[in-house]
Amino acid sequence: MNGTIERYSLPARCFHWLTVLLLAAQFAVAWTMPDVHRDTKPIGLIALHLSLGVLILLVMLARLAYRLATPKVAPLPTTPPLINRLAHIGHGTLYLLLIVLPLLGWANASSRGWDVSLFGLLPLPALSPTGSQLGHAMGDIHQLIAWVLLAVAGLHVGAALYHHFVLRDATLSRMLPQGSDKK
Ligand code: HEM
Ligand code: HEM
Repeated sequence: MNGTIERYSLPARCFHWLTVLLLAAQFAVAWTMPDVHRDTKPIGLIALHLSLGVLILLVMLARLAYRLATPKVAPLPTTPPLINRLAHIGHGTLYLLLIVLPLLGWANASSRGWDVSLFGLLPLPALSPTGSQLGHAMGDIHQLIAWVLLAVAGLHVGAALYHHFVLRDATLSRMLPQGSDKK
């Protein structure tokens, strides 16, 4: 896409903070839902986990399409190129994790013979056959990737706070509802 803009657009900021909210809810549900065993039924908090996860996947796909179709945000001139490169790789990794993670969970749910849908409104196809060994293995990878996501997001939040409170530049404010114009 041609050209760059100075700060994140309103849709980009809405996508960002909506993702943060949905993820906070999703981890709260994941850590309080009952343990999943061979004969567990996808009801209650487990059903909520599946639908919230599908919602996060759809939001991320829409967000990615928006990101690719609109002008990029220019890096701050005060940030060294290497740091900008690392931030870029970190953001790309977050996009990737937030698409791969729900797909792995979905494949695992399908291998358990569970119907996956968006809150019962949008029925979705199975991603793996019922009883599939590969689909079962995806469940373990899903849980592992959730920890990787937490670690990368933790570094990301740490970096944002470091920019704001130590370097005192505009990195964070241009992602906030009312950003200042300081550079
Ligand atoms: C970004 C979205 C998601 C996040 C952050 C997430 C996170 C997690 C976490 C942390 C666990 C482990 C819970 C525990 O400690 O017991 C888990 C388990 C699970 N999740 Fe997700 N999940 C997401 C999306 C999905 C989706 C979309 C599905 C299915 C449609 C799904 C299906 C499952 C299943 C079946 C388990 C149990 C896996 C097993 O025990 O083998 N998740 N998820
Ligand atoms: C788990 C939670 C989070 C995820 C998954 C996440 C994800 C992302 C992604 C993918 C981007 C790149 C946006 C784009 O270029 O399209 C981004 C940017 C950004 N995020 Fe987050 N974020 C999270 C939490 C936070 C929090 C809590 C803060 C603030 C403390 C924050 C501050 C920022 C800032 C300041 C940027 C812009 C960075 C820059 O201009 O280089 N994020 N975030």
